[in-house]
Amino acid sequence: MEKIMWDEGFSVGVRDLDEQHKRIVNVVNTLLDMIDAKVDSEIISDTLTKMTQYASDHFKSEEQYMLDYHYPEYPSQKKQHQEFKKKTVDFCVETMVHKATVPAEIFMYLKSWWTNHILKEDMKYKEFFHAKGLK
Ligand SMILES: [Fe+2]
Repeated sequence: MEKIMWDEGFSVGVRDLDEQHKRIVNVVNTLLDMIDAKVDSEIISDTLTKMTQYASDHFKSEEQYMLDYHYPEYPSQKKQHQEFKKKTVDFCVETMVHKATVPAEIFMYLKSWWTNHILKEDMKYKEFFHAKGLK
């Protein structure tokens, strides 16, 4: 499956949030590599766990910035983050019951969720944080 290609268009203008996003995109790309390969579901499950760990650390820092700077769309972001966490926990549980293959929908969901979330939702705070002097 085609990977997520990081370019400047993904930059939200805040250095550590960009670094966290890159780290997550890398793990998602690693997962996308596993879709066609005969990979033990344990490896996929470990990688999913790593991704959810990176994601929840990232949501924490992102939400903290939003609270510190009184970002008006904080409630909507928080809700989306929670939905994502809930859904990926379900995925991890599903792969842990040792399915022979992991449904392709999981990979599609991760790829499109992160791409859309960064490019559409997170991009909305770029100007806001920039105006506050955050880098
Ligand atoms: Fe976000």
